[in-house]
Amino acid sequence: MSQQDNVDYWNHRAKAFQNDPDKVTHQDLFQKKLELDFLDRHLAPGMNVLEVGCGNGFVTEHISRGVNKIDAFDQSEAMIGLCRERLAGRSNVNLFVHSLPDIDEKLFDIDYDVVLSVRVIINIFGNQNQKMAMQWMASKVRPGGKLILMEGSAEGLAAINAVRTRMGIDALTAPHYNTNLSRDDVLQAIPKHFTLLDDHGFWVYDLVTRILYPLMNKGETLQYNTVLHETAHFLDLIISSDGKCDLSRMLCLVFKNTAS
Ligand SMILES: C[S@@+](CC[C@H](N)C(=O)[O-])C[C@H]1O[C@@H](n2cnc3c(N)ncnc32)[C@H](O)[C@@H]1O
Repeated sequence: MSQQDNVDYWNHRAKAFQNDPDKVTHQDLFQKKLELDFLDRHLAPGMNVLEVGCGNGFVTEHISRGVNKIDAFDQSEAMIGLCRERLAGRSNVNLFVHSLPDIDEKLFDIDYDVVLSVRVIINIFGNQNQKMAMQWMASKVRPGGKLILMEGSAEGLAAINAVRTRMGIDALTAPHYNTNLSRDDVLQAIPKHFTLLDDHGFWVYDLVTRILYPLMNKGETLQYNTVLHETAHFLDLIISSDGKCDLSRMLCLVFKNTAS
C-alpha cells in the first residue's frame, strides 16, 4: 500500500461516514474514552498543542476545551472538511491539510507544549517514513514540553494473539493499511534529549474485550466458570513472569524534551 492509497482510503471513509462521526475512524467509543482520559493526564490549561493526523476531530474537539490553542492537520482533505464542520466556531483551533513525513520544516511553530498523535504513525508507509514522522514531531516540542504517541503496538497484538491462539480463538489481524509500531523502534527513533515520562497501555480493557469476552462466548456448551478461571490462571502466569503486561493493542508513550 502506498501513502497515496492511505490518503484515498481516509478520504473515502470521510465521505462514506460523513453523517456518522463516531464511525469515521476507530469505532470503539469506550476505548476512545480511555485514550482521552490518558491524554487529559498530560494536558493543562494554557498549553499550546499540535495534533498530527486529527481525522474528523474527535480528539481535537475534546482537547480544544481545555487548552489555550490547538493546531491540527491531516493528510486527508475530506477529513479536514469534517473536522472544520465539527469545530466550527472554536477560535482556538487551526486546521490544515499536510502529510507526514514530507512537511516543510518551516511550517508550524517549534515551541508546542505538547505534540501528539493518536493512531496516525501506524498509517505511514515504511519504517523509515514512520521514524522520520516521529522525529519531525519531536522537533516541534519546546524544551520541557511533551511528545505523546498513542499508536498500535506490534508486541501487544502479538501477545494478545499468543493467548487467543492458545485458547482456541482466532487471531486478531491489524487492518491492511496499518503497520503497528515496535516499542524498541520507537525508543530508538526518538532523539536522545527526550526522556520517557509515561509508558501506558490499556491491557485490562484488551484482556476483557479481546480475550475473556470472546472466550466466554465461544459456544453455549462451554463451562464458563472453568474457562474463565483457566484463563485467569494462564494469564497470571504470563503477567507475573516478568512483572509487566504487554497485552495492550495500544502503545501510549509520553516523552519529555529535556533540552534547555
Ligand atoms: C485512525 S485515524 C485517527 C484520527 C484521529 N487521530 C483520532 O484518533 O480520531 C488516522 C488519521 O491519520 C491520518 N493520517 C494518516 N497518515 C497520515 C500522514 N502521513 N500525515 C497526516 N495524516 C495522516 C489519516 O488521514 C486519518 O485521518
